[in-house]
Amino acid sequence: MTERLEDIAQAMVAPGKGILAADESTGTIKKRFDSIGAESTEDNRRDYREMLFRTTNAMETCISGVILYDETIRQKAADGTPLVDLIKAAGAIPGIKVDAGAKELAGAPGEKVTEGLDGLRERLNEYHGLGARFAKWRAVIDINDDIPSDYCLRANAHALARYAALCQEAGIVPIVEPEVLMDGNHDINRCWQVTEAALNALFDEMYAQRVVLEQAILKPNMVISGKKCATRAGVDEVAEMTVRCLKRTVPSAIPGIAFLSGGQSDEEATAHLSAMNAAYDVAWKLSFSYGRALQAAPLQAWGGKSENAADAQAAFAHRARMNSLAATGKWSVDLEQSSA
Ligand code: 13P
Repeated sequence: MTERLEDIAQAMVAPGKGILAADESTGTIKKRFDSIGAESTEDNRRDYREMLFRTTNAMETCISGVILYDETIRQKAADGTPLVDLIKAAGAIPGIKVDAGAKELAGAPGEKVTEGLDGLRERLNEYHGLGARFAKWRAVIDINDDIPSDYCLRANAHALARYAALCQEAGIVPIVEPEVLMDGNHDINRCWQVTEAALNALFDEMYAQRVVLEQAILKPNMVISGKKCATRAGVDEVAEMTVRCLKRTVPSAIPGIAFLSGGQSDEEATAHLSAMNAAYDVAWKLSFSYGRALQAAPLQAWGGKSENAADAQAAFAHRARMNSLAATGKWSVDLEQSSA
């Protein structure tokens, strides 16, 4: 049976479902493990991720796909089952992070461009053979008074579009992620301005490079105040500004928008998504592709100890459920507390 990329993209944003971003690089997962006092060995990383993927009910009902890292897509569970097969058995789609990280952008102090295009066609073909049906590439755009430059936005948009076109050639749905960071003291209007410019640059390049929009998922930041902003916008304002900014910039042919959490608290990330789905009528599905906002709670509960696995799975299931509700606009603070 031929797989249609349109169908995979739609399945990634199926009603009430979203994506688990479990694609932390070896360096990033070490930082997460350090924070709970766990050693970052290959077996520990496997055990932790296997525990998440075996949270069967949450995986089956709330998670449409899982983004994996190169090491993880090749790993087997303790009983020898490939982790990819655990994900598929839960009815979710395996995905793969393919970028090689954000590096200093030449001639632009303080700005970054994401690398990883060389050899990407061959790597995508290998990942397809390993079971990946979607991929992720993250561009990182930092804000201060002087940045980002137009140069930075264009360089990153160009790379994202080249990556996306190669994915589609390989039978893989690209998630395009131009992340405007929420670090810093900028206000929500400044975040709007940069997000709007980044998305305009991205869709310009996607058009120029013949990316089929119906076969791609956008993973943006929300339009939100910087973490150190003195007066941070509330939930309704974040929802309103985010939807308005996306309506101005994202073609309706894109099937779904799966937000990153970007350092928001677990509950903020859920509340913002639910507010958007509850109050606005939009052309695309609005869902989640959270890393930290799905994993912070289970990571804490686990603490690197196998005897805590059931508690960690319960914590993961809870966050997955809350975000599933948010993806249809049905989450509330009461539900959060009554089922915690
Ligand atoms: P966060 O939700 O933790 O921002 O991670 C999502 C992700 O995949 C970043 O690339």
